[in-house]
Amino acid sequence: MAYLQTDVTKVTTRVLQNMKLHGEKIAMITAYDYSMASLIESTKIDVVLVGDSAANVMQGHRTTLPITLDEMIVYATSVVRAIKRALVVVDMPFGTYQGNSMQALASAIRIMKETGADAIKMEGGEEILESVQRILSAGIPIMGHLGLTPQSINKFGTYAVRATEQEEADRVKKDAQILQEAGCFSVVLEKIPAKLAAEITGDLKIPTIGIGAGMHTDGQVLVLQDMLGITQQFKPRYLRTYGTFGEDIANAIRHYVGDVKCGNFPSEKEQY
Ligand code: KIV
Repeated sequence: MAYLQTDVTKVTTRVLQNMKLHGEKIAMITAYDYSMASLIESTKIDVVLVGDSAANVMQGHRTTLPITLDEMIVYATSVVRAIKRALVVVDMPFGTYQGNSMQALASAIRIMKETGADAIKMEGGEEILESVQRILSAGIPIMGHLGLTPQSINKFGTYAVRATEQEEADRVKKDAQILQEAGCFSVVLEKIPAKLAAEITGDLKIPTIGIGAGMHTDGQVLVLQDMLGITQQFKPRYLRTYGTFGEDIANAIRHYVGDVKCGNFPSEKEQY
């Protein structure tokens, strides 16, 4: 059918499933705006997450709790305009799905309809199962998120590694099974011991994506500003930075300010 054809081979949930089957690692990164997403589009990234980490890196909040559904939709719409190949996943923000599955479905439908994204992500296990099932029943793909779930930071009271005790490790394992059985296509494992993440990855048929969960997950995700070295004073052990763009950007702007102040910009060639 012509209306389904595009020039690029789109990454779908089925592609990710096959990647797990063939042992091919999945690369996922966050994005929140068109300019950065356009750069990401030129790479071989598999999944772009419009994370609610936008609350931190785009809006300067201490936690991810304040970001709204309307705000997430603005970020996601900008990203979707740039991404052709990768699967685009959008975080359901805090307060839009916990405890009310009808509200959860309405929030998920708004994201899918208004942004053109491919899937949504939700934090939690058994406690959000009813919402997960209702959203899946509408044909909306869901990526789960277990371990350190930042929307519950006020319950945890710390961003320290989760599930180091057997009881919580068993809970995370059980929740991963529950999400898989419900029909989620993938699950993010955040900041849990590598051994536990390896066991869950081995147990599940769906791909796991790790952040601070060691080397044995089926894929990895990092927050764009963190891995580019733009975020200041955030240096968890799991974070590898691939540049010093924070410094580079500040230096470029200092240079520009200096040029303007001393009349060095614009030059004759840069005027009409
Ligand atoms: O919001 C986010 O960026 C995330 C990733 C850290 C997985 O949930």
